[in-house]
Amino acid sequence: MLHRQPPFSGFVTPVYTLGNLGPAAEALRAGGLVVFPTETVYGIGASALLDHAVARIFQAKGRPQDNPLILHIHSTALLADAVSSVPRSAELLFEAFSPGPLTIVLPKARRVSPLVTAGLPTVGIRIPSHPVAREFLEMCKVPVAAPSANISGEPSPTSLEMALSGLDAKVDCAVDGGFCQHGIESTIVRCSDDEVVLLRPGAITLEMIASCLEEELPGVRVRVPAAEGGGDVAPARPEAPGMSYRHYQPRAEVWVTERVDGARTRKRFHGRRFGVIAMNRPPVGVGPATPVYVMNSAEEYAHLLYRKLVWFDDQGCEVIIAELPPPHGVGLAVRDRLQRAAGGQEL
Ligand code: TXA
Ligand code: MG
Repeated sequence: MLHRQPPFSGFVTPVYTLGNLGPAAEALRAGGLVVFPTETVYGIGASALLDHAVARIFQAKGRPQDNPLILHIHSTALLADAVSSVPRSAELLFEAFSPGPLTIVLPKARRVSPLVTAGLPTVGIRIPSHPVAREFLEMCKVPVAAPSANISGEPSPTSLEMALSGLDAKVDCAVDGGFCQHGIESTIVRCSDDEVVLLRPGAITLEMIASCLEEELPGVRVRVPAAEGGGDVAPARPEAPGMSYRHYQPRAEVWVTERVDGARTRKRFHGRRFGVIAMNRPPVGVGPATPVYVMNSAEEYAHLLYRKLVWFDDQGCEVIIAELPPPHGVGLAVRDRLQRAAGGQEL
């Protein structure tokens, strides 16, 4: 046997593991689609050098054509193939945070297909740190175009089982790397000589980025995009095309709140099965039959968020009420994902 089947029933996609990634890398180089793990979420990858393979990603996910893909590479040695210039700010950020959960948007090299960048003059570059991703990318030897391995609009997968529950039989094979450490997608910044703009918050926070640059590049401005009314993280709508779409949504409708008020919640959702994600301590007065999950830190929240959204679906919940973590550190990124999952619905 060259591959093993997943330890869960019903999937037909061949699955490879560390020590036997050769066939998965070969499949990708030959134009195939491969689901693979990273430290943030699972990705669905194709060779960025093959337009027909890149096009299949959009089909498999049902992804709008105008939403660009990011490129995954093994090391900065491959940067010159993908981008036309690297400002000093980006050099410093790659040195400090790569490999790791950071994507840097830079002017693209001519050879990067407009299919990858959806016609934009820039391309997002990420060097993942997951050991399985690193081994896989090294064997692929080409830049790997990869979005998160979910059907467009749904929560991103943080396990192989989650990824295959949407993409089984739509990909040529998959690589298993266990549960993803961070659990939410990478931080995205756009770098130029004058400024660094946060397009998507993640585990690498704005404060970490600012403090990395302040000594050597005090003149470079580190900012979030201009606010579009409210929210603790300015929406990245005009800057990162994909952020404007429906995102991260389970079947259940999601509502966010700073603190669950049990009595009010029961009245508001009377007759509908609801579940609660609470922060730090169980909610009071939501009723004994209500599914509840308590997050003990923002890091745990990020790690488990997408898995738990799907878990509440599996519990038959029509509504999920999620308490927001405090707005600092990775909590800002969790708030961003929850607010998008809720489509702005706040209690
Ligand atoms: O952690 C991650 O970044 C995961 C793993 C698999 O690496 N990937 C991921 O890809 O989240 P995706 O496609 O689901 O999200 C990438 C986001 C999209 O919102 C897209 O619009 C934006 O990055 N993006 C891609 N290229 C861009 C560019 N040139 N300028 C601005 N935004 C860009
Ligand atoms: Mg995505």
